[in-house]
Amino acid sequence: MKILVVGGGGREHALAWKIAQSPLVDELWCAPGNAGMASVAECVPIGAEDIAALADFAQEKGIDLTVVGPEAPLVAGIADFFRERGLAVFGPSREAARMEGSKHFAKQVMLEARVPTGRAEAFIDYDRAADCVRRGRPPYVVKADGLAAGKGVVIAQDDRAAYEALKACFLERRFGEAGEKVLIEEFLTGYEVSVLTFVDGDKILPLAPAQDYKRVGDGDTGPNTGGMGSYSPVPVISREEYRRVVEEILQPTAWALAKRGIHYRGILYAGLILTDKGPKILEFNVRFGDPETQAVLPRLRSDIVPAMLATVEGRLAEVELEWRDDPCVTVVVASGGYPADYRKGFPISGLDEASSMEGVVIFHAGTRQGKGGEVLTDGGRVLNVSALGKDFREARERAYRAAERINFDDAYYRRDIALRAIEPA
Ligand code: GLY
Repeated sequence: MKILVVGGGGREHALAWKIAQSPLVDELWCAPGNAGMASVAECVPIGAEDIAALADFAQEKGIDLTVVGPEAPLVAGIADFFRERGLAVFGPSREAARMEGSKHFAKQVMLEARVPTGRAEAFIDYDRAADCVRRGRPPYVVKADGLAAGKGVVIAQDDRAAYEALKACFLERRFGEAGEKVLIEEFLTGYEVSVLTFVDGDKILPLAPAQDYKRVGDGDTGPNTGGMGSYSPVPVISREEYRRVVEEILQPTAWALAKRGIHYRGILYAGLILTDKGPKILEFNVRFGDPETQAVLPRLRSDIVPAMLATVEGRLAEVELEWRDDPCVTVVVASGGYPADYRKGFPISGLDEASSMEGVVIFHAGTRQGKGGEVLTDGGRVLNVSALGKDFREARERAYRAAERINFDDAYYRRDIALRAIEPA
């Protein structure tokens, strides 16, 4: 069969790498892809948000299944557009994608599903929101309702920071429409864990848990990023807590969506926090996590394509997944300066040597091919070095040894990824 992967980051490289291993796949395309994806698929220069051009391409090539990586095209309705044209697509409809596209919508579904989550109030003007801050006690979580490129959530430690966050949304309109509605949420403390699940209507098929590192610096310091590393599984989540996540959060959420008449088809990502009162849901996303996917998929023994097809065809109940016991650690190698200003266009060396090391697989995130065929840096997060090992110690050693082999000007990575899986705090 013919598959198209939409997107061009580390998550999409991991998806394409896994899909390419399926004996069911004859031809694989990526749009737009990156220099690494070009080794497992044919890259076509169509942007991930150019929905009409993607559908034209899928029709022209007779694509059997399109797998959508990023949230923006899903929230914009790529799945509806494809389905209206009779094209099979792995990803939720525009209505279902509001689980990520509107924090208020997601919170309403959480309440309908009666899943454990923080208290929240929604506001559409500054004065009422500021009044809520005056009445409350910090810290607060201030969330722009819509998609804000990962910058729409502020943990406000005091009232002043909360007012600033509200001003940014309502008065400065820093996030445009996405900030026209704001949620002020209770701040919860505990370990954060991501559990993703395939969802086909009211059927779910959860994946192994993962943890990502959002801050740029060691010890969780510095500004938030798109993710500086990840690991899977997550020793801190007990079997009992995982069972509760599945039975008390993921399944009721799928039921609540189905009750609303929404047939969700794709991945639902639960961002969770393990509180002393049990797991609670912080947020939902409507696609694979980045960089969680880069640590989860190397552990998946099963072919991923049958699970994707079953999701799309309403047969998810027929599928089971098999996992390796070996943990996986993913270190993100970034451009120095990221997430603020950084330079790009630098040649990368050491890729072949690093990727031939035992247990190691390298997913490209922000790379492109130069005119002479060399690989150049082309983004803030450049490479994801993933490594499997018999335990976390070995997986870490392998990932870091491989990362050391990779060189480009200004390269930067955190040194403490997965350390807490070996030495929990
Ligand atoms: N790792 C966070 C995300 O994918 O949104």
